[in-house]
Amino acid sequence: MSIYLWSDIHIDFGENLDAIESLDAHRYQQDAVIIAGDVTHDVKLLKRCFISLTRTFKHVFFTPGNHDLWLYKKDFPCSVTKLNHLLHMCHEIGVHTSPKLLTDEAEPVWIVPLHSWYCKPEWGTESLYVPKQDEDPELKMWADNIRVNWDTLTDGVTPDKYMLGLNQQHVVREYQQKVISFSHFLPNRDIIFPDNRAKNYIPRYVQDPFPQFNFTRVAGSSELQTQISIIKSVVHAYGHQHRNKSVTLNGIQYVSHCMGYPTEEPFGPTGDKRVPLRIWPLSPSP
Ligand SMILES: [Fe+2]
Repeated sequence: MSIYLWSDIHIDFGENLDAIESLDAHRYQQDAVIIAGDVTHDVKLLKRCFISLTRTFKHVFFTPGNHDLWLYKKDFPCSVTKLNHLLHMCHEIGVHTSPKLLTDEAEPVWIVPLHSWYCKPEWGTESLYVPKQDEDPELKMWADNIRVNWDTLTDGVTPDKYMLGLNQQHVVREYQQKVISFSHFLPNRDIIFPDNRAKNYIPRYVQDPFPQFNFTRVAGSSELQTQISIIKSVVHAYGHQHRNKSVTLNGIQYVSHCMGYPTEEPFGPTGDKRVPLRIWPLSPSP
């Protein structure tokens, strides 16, 4: 059995949905896939995608990204209600959104989904914010500001604290076997920026196309890193940034393999984005 990673599959784009539905069903029958968020805001389409994935893979794991919690045409009163609906739908289809021990291989391994959200700098010190020259502090071009609604959260509870709080029962317990965790959002600043010394470094832009947009305002939360450290993950998979990479920091392998938008390059440092990336068993170091 192998464990595969894919995120940000954005199936609102027909070619992305085609890539999911045309996967070789025989090839992955004994395998697991981690879908690290940003599938679609459309619940019907999400359901169709999950049904397809559960036919292709033996195990499917998921945690929502920001796009999955976008509200449209008042389909849900708030994003918390939509989150609960999605988690229930996953349960009914057989998609895992809580920890599961995979015992199919010689060495059993835990897959631990970690729900998450970003901490904006004005919300707390857990923010991964790094100042940027000429940035728009209100981040007016960020669609979550309009598409997501957290009004039903108790006063003083920000979305990042709420989502990370959902993990608490899975963080305080002991895991006797190795742990692979995953989240949609990023857990630390070190993985945000490209390392131009890396062998697989590919410069993305000659010139910054959005000088006013500072991604670090909405990247993730250091509290997520705390949870990853507590459960002693050996691999942590994530998405959100659409900047694929695989890097080992402090003994943890961080890996991101986003399909992204059709307008983005189809190949990246982790290979072909049109197919999921095998992340387990770990490849021996060259
Ligand atoms: Fe995305």
